[in-house]
Amino acid sequence: MPNILIVEDEAKMQRLLQLSLAEEGYTTRSASDAEQGLRLLRQEKFDLAITDLKLPGMDGLEFLQTVKRTDARIPVILMTAFGTIETAVQAMKAGASDYVLKPFSLEEIKLIIKKELNVLRLQEENRDLREALGKRYQFRNIIARSAKMQEALAVVDRVAPTNSTVLLGGESGVGKDLIARAIHQHSRRSSGPFIKINCAAIPENLLESELFGYEKGAFTGAVSAKPGKFELADKGTIFLDEIGDVPPSIQVKLLRVLQEREFERLGGTKTLKVDVRLVAATNRDLRAALEQGSFREDLYYRLNVVPINIPPLREHKEDIPDLVHLFIERFAGEAGKSVSGITPAAMKKLMEFHWPGNVRELENIIERAVALTSRPQIEESDIRLDLSPSIAPKELTSSGVPFPPEGMTLEQFEDEIIREALRRANGNKSQAARLLGLSRNALRYRLSKIGVADEGEP
Ligand SMILES: Nc1ncnc2c1ncn2[C@@H]1O[C@H](COP(=O)(O)OP(=O)(O)OP(=O)(O)O)[C@@H](O)[C@H]1O
Ligand SMILES: [Mg+2]
Repeated sequence: MPNILIVEDEAKMQRLLQLSLAEEGYTTRSASDAEQGLRLLRQEKFDLAITDLKLPGMDGLEFLQTVKRTDARIPVILMTAFGTIETAVQAMKAGASDYVLKPFSLEEIKLIIKKELNVLRLQEENRDLREALGKRYQFRNIIARSAKMQEALAVVDRVAPTNSTVLLGGESGVGKDLIARAIHQHSRRSSGPFIKINCAAIPENLLESELFGYEKGAFTGAVSAKPGKFELADKGTIFLDEIGDVPPSIQVKLLRVLQEREFERLGGTKTLKVDVRLVAATNRDLRAALEQGSFREDLYYRLNVVPINIPPLREHKEDIPDLVHLFIERFAGEAGKSVSGITPAAMKKLMEFHWPGNVRELENIIERAVALTSRPQIEESDIRLDLSPSIAPKELTSSGVPFPPEGMTLEQFEDEIIREALRRANGNKSQAARLLGLSRNALRYRLSKIGVADEGEP
């Protein structure tokens, strides 16, 4: 039974949270200020903490920072009054797992807590399982030798048979499509349809009718009725790709489908019920869209029930050799060529590249190499890496310093630089800190924020 710490000075609110969390089967302990909260944390084991931002004495932000300094693992959710969104952003940067703007519904906070506990439990279980059994997750056509991909697949394995909504995140070309299909194939709906729709590829005025269908005469040109993707996906899975690009007018309708599983066709009056499982994907930072107000918060929480983040290829280079062999086999077969391997020098070149286009880029490069070569082994000269992006002038500021690549936030850029420093220092944290001009503690803090575990060096 998860144990939750509530830090809230307002007695009525505190009581309300206690009651509704007890209803969900959680045990709770409450504190009416941060100091008392910290005391409780030292005395007891908690799975999660929620705290008000404005508290007498030490405020919620300081509380959060203190908690993160002592135990970076425990998720902390911040509650803040409407109008202090900037503080909320600050809180996320300080390591809050999530925040809710007051006034919020109890439904909303329960959903967030459930999600955080889920993530935590999955992480712990994965670690235990891997350690105890050396269990490896295997899915057809998915290469996942690396720990990072194994972690993602472990979540896929757990979540596929349920009906939970899944939100896949990750840069372009990391394998979101592949994972979405795997979720469907390993679900109880696998004999039902898998319907994909790319929300970014369809103009706003057509997207609605694509999703929900239309009745005859709904608009000029609607000469006969047509079912939408949701209807077609009945008893199966609908995969909404690039969900971050759905315009607000349609976000409202999606929210309703997610909540009630019902909708009407365009121009129709009959309410249709469907039994669909939703998998959504985005290569954008939906959080940023939330903060800008271009993505609805309520929809975000409905979608983000089980988040799965697929790492960029540069973070799991151990998978490159297997991927290369898979792609050689695939393209040699398709082209009817007898290419069967790759020279060590060619492989080294692939291992050293930073792969901005991820697995898709690797796949394209192998396809080209197989097409080009006339020998049984791919050689270094068959590999034509696209080196231009890393030296394109538009990626530099006017003073010649690198600028974050398109689609990358400043924060992601910083994280990447921190990871790079660690690589250059061969994992030595003191040296990495020196490279960055940070104190060791400051580096350690930032690493814990981006989920790089401290291996407990002295
Ligand atoms: N782990 C993997 N094992 C084998 N093939 C992979 C893996 N990851 C990706 N691929 C292959 O790489 C290509 C790109 O993957 P996919 O289309 O799933 O990426 P994506 O994340 O959906 O990209 P985008 O954001 O551009 O839509 C596909 O051909 C896919 O089969
Ligand atoms: Mg895709």
